[in-house]
Amino acid sequence: MTEERVMKENPFDQFKLWYNEELECSSFLPDAMTLSTVGHEMMPSSRIVFMKYFTEEGFIFFTNYRSKKGKQLEENPKASLLFFWPRLVRQVRIEGLVERCSEQLSDEYFNSRPLPSRASSLLSKQSEPLDNKDEFDNNVKRVAENPELVIRPNYWGGYILRPQLFEFWQNREHRSHDRFVYTPEGYGWRITRLYP
Ligand SMILES: Cc1cc2nc3c(=O)[nH]c(=O)nc-3n(C[C@H](O)[C@H](O)[C@H](O)COP(=O)(O)O)c2cc1C
Repeated sequence: MTEERVMKENPFDQFKLWYNEELECSSFLPDAMTLSTVGHEMMPSSRIVFMKYFTEEGFIFFTNYRSKKGKQLEENPKASLLFFWPRLVRQVRIEGLVERCSEQLSDEYFNSRPLPSRASSLLSKQSEPLDNKDEFDNNVKRVAENPELVIRPNYWGGYILRPQLFEFWQNREHRSHDRFVYTPEGYGWRITRLYP
């Protein structure tokens, strides 16, 4: 496990290290992250989404732009991501600004998904009331049988969260947990250790 002496200078490298260590211990759903948003009503709202890509640019997830999270992100692009990795008892908090990904990336990802998933994304009015679930399921099946109908709608696509803060938390014995935060400084990052 990572000790202080190998703490990376760059938080994306640190994230990659912990993520890979999590993958090595066959953890369940290591890509699931809690996304918290706050719209104009100032009420925080959290849900899990899958991290589909991460690069030095940021963390990318896909969703319906008209969903609750989509509306809140349009009202206020500040958001937080949280990974909890129970195998190694680690938590990573990431805060930053969110913006839509390029249409090209959204198309690429959409087209890489299985047809029923694409059909569901197309037909789902995500986060709106659904009166008839059977009807929705049947429509998804019907549309999935007609690939020419299944093109990415403009209300579905990717978002990228560009981090302004990372906090890494590692469980240690006797509550001596290790916490370190990265914040931007000049062209690099400042690392600050926190009390547990
Ligand atoms: C393991 C897991 C992964 C999920 N991945 C996604 C995802 O990648 N995109 C998405 O829109 N919803 C995903 N969901 C569903 C969301 O948690 C949520 O119910 C949905 O996006 C509607 O959220 P909203 O009403 O806050 O917009 C996932 C749920 C779980 C439990």
